[in-house]
Amino acid sequence: MSMPTLLRSAACVLLLSAGASAAMAADVTGTLHADRPGPVIAPELYGQFMEQLGTGIDGGIWVGPDSDIPNTRGYRNDVLEALKELKVPVLRWPGGCYADIYDWRTGIGPRESRPVTLNRWWGNKEEHNAFGTHEFFEFAELVGAKTFLNVNVGTGTPREAMQWVEYITSPTNSTLAQERRRNGRDEPWKIDFLGIGNEPNGCGGRMRAEWFADQFRQYVGFIVPHGGATIIASGPDATDPEWTRTTMELAIEHMDAFSMHYYTLPTGDWENKGPATGFDESQWLATFERTYMIEPMIQEQVAIMDEFDPEGEKALIIGEWGTWYDPTPGSPGGWLQQQNSIRDALVAAVNFGIFHRNARRLRAAGIAQMVNVLQAMLLTDGPKMVRTPTFHAFRMYRPFQGATSLPLELESPAYGGLRAVDGTAARGTDGKLYVGLVNLDPREGKEVTISLRGVEASGVVGEVLTADAIDAHNTFDAPDTVRPRPFEGARLVDGTLSATLPAKSVVVLALE
Ligand code: AHR
Repeated sequence: MSMPTLLRSAACVLLLSAGASAAMAADVTGTLHADRPGPVIAPELYGQFMEQLGTGIDGGIWVGPDSDIPNTRGYRNDVLEALKELKVPVLRWPGGCYADIYDWRTGIGPRESRPVTLNRWWGNKEEHNAFGTHEFFEFAELVGAKTFLNVNVGTGTPREAMQWVEYITSPTNSTLAQERRRNGRDEPWKIDFLGIGNEPNGCGGRMRAEWFADQFRQYVGFIVPHGGATIIASGPDATDPEWTRTTMELAIEHMDAFSMHYYTLPTGDWENKGPATGFDESQWLATFERTYMIEPMIQEQVAIMDEFDPEGEKALIIGEWGTWYDPTPGSPGGWLQQQNSIRDALVAAVNFGIFHRNARRLRAAGIAQMVNVLQAMLLTDGPKMVRTPTFHAFRMYRPFQGATSLPLELESPAYGGLRAVDGTAARGTDGKLYVGLVNLDPREGKEVTISLRGVEASGVVGEVLTADAIDAHNTFDAPDTVRPRPFEGARLVDGTLSATLPAKSVVVLALE
């Protein structure tokens, strides 16, 4: 008997002896408290990150107005259409590490005369800067997303950041606002989120927390975004409680939010992260173990922020998250290209549940990255485009954007050291009740039985995302290997919701 089967049997016995009726014989039991609403799930928790990196923008989003690839003023139509399906709430640009080497003046004015710069962080790629400030804000408008602009602290100056923000947001007749008009944009744009620096302890300048906090105070003192913006202080990569504490002590009154990053590496080893496909079950499990490590990190940040801001006014933001594997063999160095499998869809769904559980202070997040880079929604190759399993997870969880979180208590058998089944629930803005469930067990399905409190519903519909193999993925030739299908395995009887989850699956149910 395999280890997971053993654990599952043991857990079943435990649940039955604890009072579940033999007739139910559920692997997983739980209670959903619709009568105890929690915090609203900020739509921005489903945000996207797009860095000037590899083909994340050039080729992936931007092909230019003269391209044979169908486009709207230079932006790929297929990508635009797919992103609209996701209701992308916010887009972050230009980085990432790139933000701290970006000179905004290289990305304005006639495209043919923009300078060529070297992307020293990402393979020294020649950047022709065709996608600059106007292109970012116009793209966000086409997608219908809010904007998250990251200014350069590592190699920039407060003056440059101040002038960039004035150029973008000023409605006045200042020389910078007039320059924007000459470049084709009359009305100012809105910067919704303004990030000051990026990973300042690392690629953002190898700073110490005290130095960054002082820099942050200085920048904020000069930058005045017309129309306001959520001002974000940068935390380090992963967690560093001392950094958080120092930034809070020295600069909390100048920030609206604090940002942390966390990446899931199956091995935890940056030199040998593990492949995106062709992995074994031990790496499958390790990937989820490392995914869950973000939750205590969030709680650690929140505990420190609670000390300084007990009212919870300042937000925590996960500026970057997602899987990071060994690059696709043969892909250019530094372009961070990787395939995306059913494993990634489950990683996304696990993260969504974690974000919902911590929604009191966690109010925005950005998956890295939207197109062609790391845990992407979309992969492109010339005129071809394919939706990844992660895209489908984001699409399935769309009703959770802006929903009111609801406590969902689940007792699940173990899978390795984890709970095999995780779940989240919320009341959507349309009034319906939504339940998201993830079965991490790659071999066995799970019976889930959930008692509903405070729910008036008579029917349940849903979708399921699953696959035969643990590394099943979509390719340009087989784009629908992993795609959501209508879910027939849920029942709603006498205030009890039951669902038969396939192995390695994500299920989203709507109770009506
Ligand atoms: O997303 C790739 C890189 O990861 C970002 O540029 C940086 O912020 C992080 O280290």
